[in-house]
This record gives sequence, C-alpha cells and structure tokens, in this order.
Amino acid sequence: MSEDPPSENDETPVGAAAAMGQEPELIAHADGGLRIVRVRSAEDAAPFRASFAGAYQDIFAGAPYNERFYASEAMGFLDGFLRMPDHITLLAVKGRSRVVAFGIGVPVSARADIARELRGLVPVRHAFYLAELGVQESWRGHGLGRRLVDLRLQLVDRQRYSHVLLRTSAIRNASYQMYMDMGFEDMGVYMEVPARRIDGSVRTDRRLFLSRVLQGSSEGG
Ligand SMILES: CC(C)(COP(=O)(O)OP(=O)(O)OC[C@H]1O[C@@H](n2cnc3c(N)ncnc32)[C@H](O)[C@@H]1OP(=O)(O)O)[C@@H](O)C(=O)NCCC(=O)NCCS
Repeated sequence: MSEDPPSENDETPVGAAAAMGQEPELIAHADGGLRIVRVRSAEDAAPFRASFAGAYQDIFAGAPYNERFYASEAMGFLDGFLRMPDHITLLAVKGRSRVVAFGIGVPVSARADIARELRGLVPVRHAFYLAELGVQESWRGHGLGRRLVDLRLQLVDRQRYSHVLLRTSAIRNASYQMYMDMGFEDMGVYMEVPARRIDGSVRTDRRLFLSRVLQGSSEGG
C-alpha cells in the first residue's frame, strides 16, 4: 500500500484548497490530520475522483474480496452514487485531495439489485443501504471504519428511513464483528456477487445482509 499511516507530522493544507475554490462540507476531523467531507455533487467530487478510484482499487483488491476494478469503473460507481437521491457520500481526505477512506450510503430503492433480494423482508421504501465502506490498509485500526458507519447513521433522514441495511462478506470477518458491535443483526440472507478477481477470473463470492432499525425513526422509537 502506498498510503502513509496517521502521523502527527502530516500537514493538511486545507486553506490552499479553499483558496482555489469551493470546499465540500466538512463533517469532522479525524486522527492523522484527516478531514471527513461530504460530497454531494459531481462538482464537489471532482478533486477527489482519481484518488477515490485508487483507494477503491487498493482496498477491494485485498482479502476477502480480491476484486480487480479499473479506475474508470471505480469512478463510474462514484458518479452513479452521486446521482442517487438522498445519497450520503463521505470521504476521509488527507491533505487537499488524497482519499484514504470512504463511506457511501443510498436508499435501497435506488439499488434494484438489492431491493429485489430484500423485498418482503424489510420496508424497501424506508430502508437505507450502506453501500460502500473502505479504509486504506495502512489507516486501519484507528477507528475510521467505525466512524464512517456512525456518521452515515447520524446523517440518515429518520423521517424517511426506518431501517439500515448492508452487505458484508459471508466469511464473518473483522467487518462483521464491527457491525455486530454496532447493533446490526445478521439477517441470514445471502447473495452471490459476481466480480472480476485479481487473478483475472470472474467468480462469485458470498455476501450476507445485516440490518438495524434506526433509533428515532417512526419504527425505531
Ligand atoms: C472493515 C474496515 C472498513 C474497517 O476499517 P477500520 O478503520 O480498520 O475499522 P476500525 O478501526 O473502526 O475498527 C472497527 C472494528 O473492526 C474490528 N476490527 C478492525 N480491525 C480488526 C482486526 N485486525 N482484527 C479484528 N477485528 C478488527 C473491531 O471490531 C473494531 O472495533 P474496536 O476498535 O472496538 O476493536 C477495513 O478493514 C476495510 O476497509 N476492509 C476492506 C473492505 C471491507 O471489508 N469493507 C467492508 C465491507 S461491508
């Protein structure tokens, strides 16, 4: 991995970027001089697009997914999320535009593939999907993954969404444990996801759905 771990000596020339143009909304600061920003539009995302793609490629090339994405595909995913209504797209950024982590959420109804699997099990129109979470390997273990889940949960509109869902590897790894600790429940619903792997083959891997009722929503109490 080419990313640097958190260090107190890192500088964050946010002012320089601000001087160049519009800054996306700052949601929080995180250890290691990171900014967590919310990007709402393609214009907001423009400075981060290439770096997002690199992070996406690196993160999902690792275990357990071993996926190979082209940079253009990763950028296409980002563009697609940014066009979805009510999307919550958070990037953890080092310096001006280096993306070290991301957390993206969208309504389940905007994802036909997910909605098809879950119809009848959850109120699809009132369910929000935590679509992507990734932290560059050298930045892991400092609470950033959990933070990006927490922040999205805080930002979901509870007047409209009562349930949060996500899909994680069925091998029940560290990410599964993190979500269990955060109050998610194992739905016992699986999905085979086809993808190009780093060895060039196209194979499926097994994912598992987790869900959580949102506190403060009309159903969550
Ligand atoms: C899953 C992922 C996002 C976690 O990011 P992170 O920044 O390391 O997560 P955190 O530091 O917030 O750790 C959150 C929890 O994960 C678990 N965890 C993290 N690293 C772990 C490890 N090496 N071993 C065991 N559990 C671990 C712990 O439960 C931890 O909670 P704790 O801090 O209370 O012990 C990161 O490993 C990743 O990007 N993985 C590859 C992509 C992926 O799996 N995405 C999730 C798909 S749903």
